[in-house]
Formats: sequence, structure tokens, C-alpha cells
Amino acid sequence: MNSPLLNRSTQTINSQRMAPPTGRSPLLPILTQDSLRGRDILGIEDLSAQELEIILGVAFLLKQHKFDDTQTLFARGQSLAMLFEKPSLRTRVTFEAGMIQLGGSAINLEGKLGERESVADVARNLDRWLDGIMARVFQHATLLELAQHAKIPIINGLSDLEHPCQALADFLTIKEAKGQFKKLKVAFIGDGNNVANSLALMAAKLGVDFTIACPKGYEPNQELWQKALSFANVTDSSLVITHSPTEAATAADAVYTDTWVSMGQEEESDRRKLEFQKYQVNSALMSHSKPDAIVMHCLPAHRGEEITDEIIDGNQSVVFDQAENRLHVQKALLSLIL
Ligand code: CP
Ligand code: NVA
Repeated sequence: MNSPLLNRSTQTINSQRMAPPTGRSPLLPILTQDSLRGRDILGIEDLSAQELEIILGVAFLLKQHKFDDTQTLFARGQSLAMLFEKPSLRTRVTFEAGMIQLGGSAINLEGKLGERESVADVARNLDRWLDGIMARVFQHATLLELAQHAKIPIINGLSDLEHPCQALADFLTIKEAKGQFKKLKVAFIGDGNNVANSLALMAAKLGVDFTIACPKGYEPNQELWQKALSFANVTDSSLVITHSPTEAATAADAVYTDTWVSMGQEEESDRRKLEFQKYQVNSALMSHSKPDAIVMHCLPAHRGEEITDEIIDGNQSVVFDQAENRLHVQKALLSLIL
């Protein structure tokens, strides 16, 4: 048969097509790595340094062998519910693509939980049909309630308190860019929000120095910060809260920022934009960091507010590596817990 499709040049195709397995795959040990099997991933708070390293190691392996067909065994026949109370691009797409690449499937559900039926009943239903739940919620308590009533693992896809999947992808990105975690300083410029809380906890557990510069009244969650301080005691990392962006950026290896107005805070938008004006990541601020510092943002970005075009599009920016790494980290979590 002479079909034009068969003659199509593969050089112009930018596909994610997997190759058939050849010999023994380096991914096979992931199948028997059971230390996190069945676990909820509600926050960085609950994961030990060793567990964080396992997840990062598996994500790195999956990224290195992203076209290895063996990965389609990791969630074969399994399904994940994705519950979204808030919008999403990265979390939504990477969890669904991740499940497909691992041989499973994902089901998207949108809307406020607890309105049509109780959160407990939602959990008890999904539990009978599926293998895991990823939820993006307004209140962290909703995740705790899902976890209490479902036997299948619950993954936090962002709550008011933590964004653990983001922090995992971010530390994978830092490791790729810097080669190691020891003696690094991460500066977070902006709101002490969910992303900042997870980054502070993860830095403390991995022995990375972390300084946040925020306006008065926008510090990280107090309880989580106290926990981070106790982890930092063990790993000997330094955790600092300052109101000076310059102090935070000075000698930093990574300068991170996030929106000044998180989802659900839209009514505070005008006040926040005024109070955060001094906290923009721009070239003046970057001049205080190390010359090879990387620039990070979890996205979506509000260009011209928390970060300038020049910096987010500049050669120190790793924001799309962070976004790519969401996929590899999601796949690592799913492979390890489902
Ligand atoms: N960074 C992040 O979680 O992106 P989404 O809100 O698009 O999922
Ligand atoms: N802090 C932001 C993160 C978005 C990924 C928010 O909660 O909206």
C-alpha cells in the first residue's frame, strides 16, 4: 500500500510518542517502590526529607526516560478524579496527561464541593469507583474531609495553605539548574501564600536557605512557619522573614515570585496591588542576586505586576522548566501512590 501518511517526514513532528520497550527498562524499579503506596499527599508538611528525595528521584527518572513505554504499566487500568473548585491550566493538564501516559485515565469535575451533596458523600462515592482523587480547593479543611472519608489517596492540587505539587516541581527545577541543594539560598518576593508555605517547608526539609520578603501582614502561615523552623533546625538551613526585597534577593541563587492576588482574593485586589508595589521582581532587584541566579514563578504570571517581561522572558528565567516539571512530578506521585 502506498499511503502518503507512511511517507510523512518524522522530522517535523513534535510528538510525545512512546517507543516500544527494548530490553530491561530503567523505569522498572518504580513498580516495586511501595514506600508511599496508598498515601495522601496533602502537604509538604507531611512528607519526610527521604520521601521528598524519593519523589524527586522518580520524577527525574521519568523525565529522563519520558518516551519509555514501560511507564504505561504504572497506572494501567486506574482512574483519577480531578476536582476543581478553582481554575487551572498546569495542574489540570499535567494530571490528565500524566495519567494517560501512565496507562490510566482522569475524570475532570468542576464546582464547589459540598454544595450539591456533602464532601463526605462525594468521597464515599469516588472511593467505590476510582483509584485516587486530586483536588484543588478553597479550604484546606475540604481536603482533610475528603481524606477522612475516602480510602483512596487524596492529592492536594492547591489549597489555601499549601501547593505541594508545585513545590516538588520547583525543587526538581532547582536541582537541575544548580546540581545540588546544599548552600543554596532561595528568595521568595511577595505574598506569604500557599506556594510560599510549601516552598519554605520543602527548603527547610532539604537544607536549603529560604528568605521571604513580604509587606507587613502578608507573612507565611504562622503554624507552618513554626514547623518549617523546627525542620530547619535539623537540617541547619536558615529561614528568614523580612520586609526588604533587597535583603531577600541579596546573594540569592533563585529568586521566586507569585501573584499578589491569589484565586479567591479578587475582592482585595486594589489594596494588594498598592501594598505589594515595592515587591516587583525586576532588573534592579535581580542586580542584588548572584549573577547566575535563576528566576522562578509558578504561573500564571501577571506581567508588569509581580514580575517584568524583561525578567520573566530573560535568560535567567526557568519558569517553563518549572511548568514542564509539573508533569514529571505528577507522574512520579501517581506512580508511587496509586
Ligand atoms: N501553577 C499552577 O498550579 O498552575 P495552574 O493554576 O494553571 O494549575
Ligand atoms: N498563589 C496562587 C497560585 C496559583 C497557581 C493562587 O493560589 O492563586
